Amino acid sequence: MHVRYKSSLYNIKICVYNDVTSVIFIWLVGGSPEGWLEMLTIKALILTAYVYYCEGTSRAVLNDRPIIGVLSQEQSKHLHSKFPDENYTSYIAASYVKHVEAAGARVVPILIGKNRKYYEDLMKKINGVFLPGGATFFNQSNGFADAGQHIYEIAQGMNRSGDYFPIFGTCLGFELLIILASGRGEKENRVKCYSFRNLSLNFTNDFRSSKMFKDATEDIIRILETEDITVNAHQFCILDQNLKSHNLTKDWRVTSHSKDDNGTSFIATIEHTRYPFYGVQFHPEKIAYEWKASKNYPHTMNALHTNRYFMDFFVSECRKNYHRFPSTKEENDYLIYKYVPVFTGELGSSYQQCYFFEPRGVDTKYNLDLLKDKHDSYYRTDLY
Ligand SMILES: *[C@@H]1O[C@H](CO)[C@@H](O)[C@H](O)[C@H]1NC(C)=O
Ligand SMILES: *[C@@H]1O[C@H](CO)[C@@H](O)[C@H](O)[C@H]1NC(C)=O
Ligand SMILES: *[C@@H]1O[C@H](CO)[C@@H](O)[C@H](O)[C@H]1NC(C)=O
Ligand SMILES: *[C@@H]1O[C@H](CO)[C@@H](O)[C@H](O)[C@H]1NC(C)=O
Ligand SMILES: *[C@@H]1O[C@H](CO)[C@@H](O)[C@H](O)[C@H]1NC(C)=O
Ligand SMILES: *[C@@H]1O[C@H](CO)[C@@H](O)[C@H](O)[C@H]1NC(C)=O
Ligand SMILES: *[C@@H]1O[C@H](CO)[C@@H](O)[C@H](O)[C@H]1NC(C)=O
Repeated sequence: MHVRYKSSLYNIKICVYNDVTSVIFIWLVGGSPEGWLEMLTIKALILTAYVYYCEGTSRAVLNDRPIIGVLSQEQSKHLHSKFPDENYTSYIAASYVKHVEAAGARVVPILIGKNRKYYEDLMKKINGVFLPGGATFFNQSNGFADAGQHIYEIAQGMNRSGDYFPIFGTCLGFELLIILASGRGEKENRVKCYSFRNLSLNFTNDFRSSKMFKDATEDIIRILETEDITVNAHQFCILDQNLKSHNLTKDWRVTSHSKDDNGTSFIATIEHTRYPFYGVQFHPEKIAYEWKASKNYPHTMNALHTNRYFMDFFVSECRKNYHRFPSTKEENDYLIYKYVPVFTGELGSSYQQCYFFEPRGVDTKYNLDLLKDKHDSYYRTDLY
């Protein structure tokens, strides 16, 4: 791919260092003693021109150590009932984390209920944000929606200043993206619907030229189109008319629809036309990582490799961002490896494993350091 993602000094340096450093130095300082100043000026001009050319045409150097922020959300009622004493503030289902990790990225949890500066500082150090699905209200303060709004606005600002910053929303996260784009007003820009099935995608006519699908293999497209392997579990839908009523059809490009249990055609995949923002209404992460038997998730090889495509795509977008933590120490402090996922599947949750954050009750946080001191094994604790 010969694409320029952004004009970065980093690219120029790589280009010059790799190709010609030593040659240039010899050439620049060498030459006849007469008129050396003119000669040097001419040479410097040629070098500048070369650097511009080189920067403009070289392969963009991708970030192959991407770190993705995954937004937490308000602790669910069900999970709270399993850990009432801890009274955790928020959680992340581990399937989202594994889904991102499988695509070659590391994960940093993003907490809810923080001030703008927290999100700004963190987003300068990570390469994209993933907004998971789940169940929470958009109208409450200091939760998923407020955090999502900070993230959305900060990412827009970064992108406008030439700093490529991708966001991907799944299910509730996808709905949040569209509601943020619509403006979080009185009435949420989504409709009640009912969709609890594995579905295929009905692609729009020009989906093949979209950012999300232009590099997908024929095989992946064929399976998405012909097999019911996208997992739907939502009671709200975004319809074409939701985009129209809020003048969003120029900014957001719909690439496929599916039908709910009632036959209503809802938007299944979408992307922003200018920003690297993407959304899917279904749950690609469940195929490989969620196993609650009563949910009947498809686990076939076709379902597996096709659903995996969405995070591979997103992480490849995040590789175009060059943010990083100033030190390994700070990076380590933020990475999700500091937390230990809990086997919530055996407690009846539809999530196999979850990460929990910020207990407001007794201090039994599943923190690696704490557990190391108290228990032989990180996974066997006496907390439940
Ligand atoms: C959990 O913490 C919140 C905030 O401190 C508090 O309002 C709530 O009563 C607590 N719930 C329980 C069950 O302890
Ligand atoms: C948020 O919306 C829900 C569902 O419509 C409603 O029950 C709840 O009272 C609302 N909460 C606030 C804080 O407005
Ligand atoms: C966002 O960034 C991309 C790549 O840098 C650029 O093509 C696009 O025009 C930017 N969008 C806006 C609205 O500035
Ligand atoms: C199904 O569609 C009918 C007619 O449009 C509507 O009245 C009903 O509420 C819908 N049911 C669900 C579960 O969406
Ligand atoms: C697929 O979507 C198109 C519009 O993009 C619509 O005309 C067509 O009826 C849909 N097909 C099915 C099987 O739902
Ligand atoms: C959409 O655009 C039209 C025409 O510019 C305007 O009258 C209308 O208020 C806009 N609607 C929204 C929800 O922004
Ligand atoms: C989803 O797909 C699996 C595997 O094909 C199937 O066993 C299951 O019944 C489907 N679930 C639903 C809710 O249709």
